[in-house]
Amino acid sequence: MQGARIFVFDAYGTLFDVHSAVARHRAAIGPHANALSDLWRMKQLEYTWTRTLMGAYAHFATLTEQALDYASARFGGIDPALRTQLLEAYATLEAFPDVAPTLKALKEKGCATAILSNGTKPMLSSALASAGLTGLIDACLSVDDIMTYKTAPEAYRMVVEHFGVRPGEVAFHSSNRWDIAGAMRFGFHTAWINRAGLPEEYPDLPPSRILSGLSGLAD
Ligand code: LAC
Repeated sequence: MQGARIFVFDAYGTLFDVHSAVARHRAAIGPHANALSDLWRMKQLEYTWTRTLMGAYAHFATLTEQALDYASARFGGIDPALRTQLLEAYATLEAFPDVAPTLKALKEKGCATAILSNGTKPMLSSALASAGLTGLIDACLSVDDIMTYKTAPEAYRMVVEHFGVRPGEVAFHSSNRWDIAGAMRFGFHTAWINRAGLPEEYPDLPPSRILSGLSGLAD
């Protein structure tokens, strides 16, 4: 990561715990809660890739709702009030405990911090505010501005255009291995935040480094 002063983070799964929405309503959902949360996330991501390939963009908030509806239907349906509660919970996801201290430490070192996310700006602003992180992020970049989801190179290009730097001056962090592959391909330094201890993939696009969390990033 030598020379990188711009620290860019994916949002969902990296800063914010996407499973914290279902976790808040686990009792009401029942025994399928974890499977529903996993399928909700997988479908949400699948829709970003299929829609980017088709050239048929729809907001990440819309895809998040459609993915929840699909996942719920697979597990016998949920009542409308619970659906509303889950979507509200998604707007105020919990941040992982290592996020605030790491962002603070990076800013104290004089590094720039940014988010590059598929999420819309209202989704990201809400999540940042509820997690108390708003003042720790210098730039909140949403692919909604270009209506093209990661891993399209145009999405990563938003960072270099915003900061007026070369890709090699950017360190990109994501817990999503597919996102790291896209960022490597674009030319960023990358750290795969492998919070879940998942196996390696995309062997031709390996991360610059692999960490189990964000702690120590500013050291
Ligand atoms: C993000 C999702 C995809 O871009 O994790 O924040």
